Amino acid sequence: MDAVEYILGKHREMEQLLDQLEQAEDPGRRTELLRDLTVELARHMAVEERVLFPAVRAELCDVDPETFGDDVLENLEEHHVLKTILDELHDMDPDDERFPAKAEVLAETVEHHHEEEEEGVLAGIREHWDDARRAGIGRQLQEAEATAPTRAHPNLPDEGRLVEASQRFAAAIDKARDAVRDAADTLRP
Ligand SMILES: [Fe+2]
Ligand SMILES: [Fe+2]
Repeated sequence: MDAVEYILGKHREMEQLLDQLEQAEDPGRRTELLRDLTVELARHMAVEERVLFPAVRAELCDVDPETFGDDVLENLEEHHVLKTILDELHDMDPDDERFPAKAEVLAETVEHHHEEEEEGVLAGIREHWDDARRAGIGRQLQEAEATAPTRAHPNLPDEGRLVEASQRFAAAIDKARDAVRDAADTLRP
């Protein structure tokens, strides 16, 4: 699948989940939506960091240093902020009076981030990569999802040689923690 179409689809899906989370009043529903959103957002940021950003920086930075250098660095900083908010929400009681405000700030930050990515890197690769290259990257993004973390890890490396190994390691731990949590949920009266 074309990398741009794939990412745009993910952005719209996450925005829908955020809308639902902002509107949800029932604490059980909030928890459920936050879990879904955490998986989607954590995985999406991880595959962009592992596949998309290194590829554009290596192949296109000379062509357009602002879009594929500066903008990508800004995207990484926004990922870091998003992971931090997501991590805090995850540990918060959904009944906490600060939960809705934090969810709103998350939604605003996600919207801003998507706008920046879509007007920057995604518009840029539409211009500079042909269909075959975009399809190749789209495939790699989808494949990387299988071994991407499903929880937010603000302190995991987001660039450089250790990205893939640390994501795979975190993903295995997340999978185990999610399984334990789900098992505990089924035992709860
Ligand atoms: Fe994205
Ligand atoms: Fe992103």
